[in-house]
Amino acid sequence: MDQAQKKRQAARAAIDFIEPGIRLGVGTGSTVNLFIEELARVRDRIAAVTASSRETEQRLKAAGFEVAELAETGDLDLYVDGADEANKHFHLIKGGGGALTREKVLAAASRRFVCIIDDSKWVAVLGRFPLPVEVVPMAQSYVARQMVRARGQPILRKGFVTDNGNVILDVHQLSITNPPDMEARFNQIAGVVTVGIFASRPADVILMAEDAGIKRFDRR
Ligand code: A5P
Repeated sequence: MDQAQKKRQAARAAIDFIEPGIRLGVGTGSTVNLFIEELARVRDRIAAVTASSRETEQRLKAAGFEVAELAETGDLDLYVDGADEANKHFHLIKGGGGALTREKVLAAASRRFVCIIDDSKWVAVLGRFPLPVEVVPMAQSYVARQMVRARGQPILRKGFVTDNGNVILDVHQLSITNPPDMEARFNQIAGVVTVGIFASRPADVILMAEDAGIKRFDRR
């Protein structure tokens, strides 16, 4: 099974979590795009849906959904999103698509967070994937210096502006052995809007597609 087929499998498996009357948050990325395609089958179960990015909002609208703001939906029953990396502690790296801030807000506002990945995303230690950090534009060089002090190699994502009008530093060479600690420390740096470590609010369920099928992990 190739990676695209695995992503499709993971996206399909998440449909089982869509219960009647649900208030749903939808993430961003190629796996979620497949989830949006699958979602049309269970349209009548969805009471309200909100999006983590403009791109997802457009895709949901194109699929015939009316997309609400989080302020209108209130807290969500379920958030479904992909990840760039995941570990056995349900900690994630996200933000490869640049939507990390709104993704973190929706994950925080949700009772349950189901993460859909293929097995290429599974790691023992987070950090092989460069850590996305959303930064206020005027603070980019200051934050980059702090990342170097933390032994990372920050690279500005060229030509990219987030939905919130900010920039992204992709920080290479970090070995994230204590994700909650690094998330908290980087969050404290002035000018940082969001760190792409999702550890203080980890996933609740990971649906990982591999050659043998879907592997489900539940956080206690
Ligand atoms: C978007 O900002 C990211 O957090 C995505 O969740 C992540 O990049 C996964 O994307 P794919 O499903 O395209 O691998």
